[in-house]
Amino acid sequence: MKNCIHIPDDFAGFDPCGFCIPQPLASSIHRVLIPHGMIKDRIKKLADDIFKALVEEEVESVSLLCVLKGAYRFYADLQESLSAVNANESSKGHFHIIPEFIRLKSYENTSSQGEVKIMGIDDLEKIRGKTVVVVEDIIDTGRTMRKLLSTLESHQPKKVIVVCLLRKRTPLSDGYKPDFVGFEIPDRFVIGYAFDYNEYFRDLMPLCVISEKGIENFKE
Ligand code: XMP
Ligand code: MG
Repeated sequence: MKNCIHIPDDFAGFDPCGFCIPQPLASSIHRVLIPHGMIKDRIKKLADDIFKALVEEEVESVSLLCVLKGAYRFYADLQESLSAVNANESSKGHFHIIPEFIRLKSYENTSSQGEVKIMGIDDLEKIRGKTVVVVEDIIDTGRTMRKLLSTLESHQPKKVIVVCLLRKRTPLSDGYKPDFVGFEIPDRFVIGYAFDYNEYFRDLMPLCVISEKGIENFKE
């Protein structure tokens, strides 16, 4: 985990009143944890770091694997930034980006479920012998990523690199650490920037901590 931004446990976050938030969602948001612009800034640096690591290894093409649904925004922004570095004349190197997608489900309400369901793995034969960059939204206990990695390994990729936007500091962590992390965050349930609570809030732009009322309002 290189140069990860650490958001401390006592960080209060920002008052949501200072941000554009749809009125019907306002009472569901406790605080804004990471403003949208800051996420975008951080992704540019992540893309720089990933680019350097891949070019150093003389990689010619990369299977950029999006873990749906939670990583879709992160994936789109990261791919855009990686393509920008790839196209920059002063960048020392280039690799092809081959987009791939997989869907995982492990959460119901705000707690990780024992079982991790993997959908859309039929196409995974495509990663055999390839360098794969897994783009995931968040590492919480680490169980989902370990399950995904063992599934990927059974298709014998050349190398697998994991990049996550967030890593939660939780006592339930199994110690798994991805190769690249955007932010390390306190043990709170986050929504927005494609992070959901029972499929709601993915379209919210900033990353927010859900309120007690939000948990109640959108419970299944
Ligand atoms: P584990 O515990 O297996 O969980 O590492 C990882 C998956 O759980 C989801 N997750 C969250 N989703 N807000 C969300 O919207 C959260 O705070 C949160 N914590 C975990 C996520 O899908 C991740 O892939
Ligand atoms: Mg996920």
